[in-house]
Amino acid sequence: MNIVVFENTDQLAKACACIFAHQLLTKPNSVLGFATGSSPIKSYEEMVKLFRDGVIDFKEAVSFNLDEYIGVSEESPVSYHYFMHDMLFRHVNLKKTHVPNGLDKDMEKSCREYDALIASFGGIDLQLLGIGRNGHIGFNEPDSIFSAGTQVVQLTKSTIEANTRFFDKEEDVPKTAISMGVKNIFKARKIVLVANGEDKKEAIFNTVKGEIDPKVPASILQLHPDCTLLLDKAAAALL
Ligand code: GLP
Repeated sequence: MNIVVFENTDQLAKACACIFAHQLLTKPNSVLGFATGSSPIKSYEEMVKLFRDGVIDFKEAVSFNLDEYIGVSEESPVSYHYFMHDMLFRHVNLKKTHVPNGLDKDMEKSCREYDALIASFGGIDLQLLGIGRNGHIGFNEPDSIFSAGTQVVQLTKSTIEANTRFFDKEEDVPKTAISMGVKNIFKARKIVLVANGEDKKEAIFNTVKGEIDPKVPASILQLHPDCTLLLDKAAAALL
């Protein structure tokens, strides 16, 4: 694991955008993996700046997002579709974007189709990740099996609590989601994980220094051949 610690989240976001810029400059038709949550927001802003400044171009690139809430429509402001559209997709010129469908009647089929779609594009070149306070990646909660492909997941109490800030009240937070599995994430050729703030310090410590254990899904990243963690000082405090 390559670990870089920054003074502040502005620097961290610029560094993350630089990694995406390098990817697009060296392989314009890259398959990019995107994440939601508050952690990558500034990184998306930096990518948009680089696009507007003519430094990078997404016109040959396609993207796959990690996850989506089940039962939430694309148009809902709390959906991950909406988030991605708002933060990135409407500002750049990606050739094609994919976000898991949380409204499919047959979720099992939808999961297998998402896996097949990723495979049909040759797999993910560069995957962006955030991390949950309990060490989850995508929506793969503790004890998710490492060999899982795209799957339906039950969100834990801690994730529901953490995500309540995006909803009017806790009861409104969906209890299930569709998420790329740990296997999909691990198969990405390159991974960059961004984390900032004190409430991520334990998850980062367990990811980097802990046992490789499904109890901390991100701990599998210790075995990835090309994984970079971009952290601010608070998230790196226990390392
Ligand atoms: C959600 C998302 C994850 C994200 C996590 C952390 O659970 N499914 O992909 O990493 O939230 O979010 P934040 O960056 O807001 O702390």
